[in-house]
Amino acid sequence: MEKKDIDWGNLGFGYVKTDYRYVSNFKGGAWDEGGLITDDTVTISECACVLQYAQTVFEGMKAYTTEDGRIVTFRPDLNAERMENSAKRLEMPAFPRDRFVEAVVETVKANAAYVPPYGSGATLYVRPFMFGSNAVIGVKPAEEYQFRVFTTPVGPYFKGGVKPLTIRVSDFDRAAPCGTGHIKAGLNYAMSLHAIVDAHKNGFDENMYLDPKTRTKVEETGGANFLFVTKDGKVVTPKSDSILPSITRRSLIYVAKEYLGLEAEEREIYFDEVKDFAECGLCGTAAVISPVGKIVDHGKEICFPSGMTEMGPITKKLYDTLTGIQMGRIEAPKGWLQVIE
Ligand code: PLP
Ligand code: COI
Repeated sequence: MEKKDIDWGNLGFGYVKTDYRYVSNFKGGAWDEGGLITDDTVTISECACVLQYAQTVFEGMKAYTTEDGRIVTFRPDLNAERMENSAKRLEMPAFPRDRFVEAVVETVKANAAYVPPYGSGATLYVRPFMFGSNAVIGVKPAEEYQFRVFTTPVGPYFKGGVKPLTIRVSDFDRAAPCGTGHIKAGLNYAMSLHAIVDAHKNGFDENMYLDPKTRTKVEETGGANFLFVTKDGKVVTPKSDSILPSITRRSLIYVAKEYLGLEAEEREIYFDEVKDFAECGLCGTAAVISPVGKIVDHGKEICFPSGMTEMGPITKKLYDTLTGIQMGRIEAPKGWLQVIE
């Protein structure tokens, strides 16, 4: 199969239309058979529940070309499970998990010409999503839904690749106590748009959100979980009911323990502790592991000993092992790679 003529090495994290997308519609209480189409547009009522009341959830995952030329995705079963949880929280019908994985596989396979070659630094980002599609004017869930999967080749999420980031502590919250911070709903990202524009205007790469109830504990950023390394080499990540349960974070904890022999722990992390950590990174599908060099709290700077030029040594080991597994250089735990072709 011939690859598309794309300058893979210079891709940013943007949308590039690819040839096929998967669509299935829910009507009369059931999902239809679904299938691939070429039309990248969506036509719905002006009063669709998604447009009026933001009834939409999504997922994010990547397809990789491995060292030996296969195309794989990483733990899509966990994305399927998380999307089911997201849908339930917004009173949407779940898209069956096995069909979710099949739809991802079919869409990636159909767009194989857009899966960046091994070693290019780019990947194919896969975006499954669903939304309430029929007209709803009183506040209630839709009765009809559309599930779609599209793909787009992407480069690094943060400009500058693996250059350490500068983050500020946000005065805005991204989630409410007992709200929807733990699911992947579009509304959480709408919440974060003003904060991210304001952060960029002020020269910061991202926001660190604190827990919305007490503003004393570390939560996450707009699009990734935090990961810290203590001075004695232990990996710690925040535990909270209002952050997204990152698949990358869960995988890194396993990698830290089982591949690198490190201690790793999910626990509540008070912001007051952050100044004592040796390394910090953001982890997620889009972010992979992006190192953080500095956190600014209302003018007070926390500069990590790992500095502003390179990833810290343990962050680097985690990064190399995780990406090694995803690209087939290091043997993956059973069930982590779904081979597409
Ligand atoms: N937190 C938020 C708010 C996100 O949008 C993402 C991205 O999906 C993550 C964390 C990381 O999750 P994952 O590793 O499953 O991509
Ligand atoms: C992902 O990492 O897949 C996300 O959805 C994060 C988003 C900010 C691009």
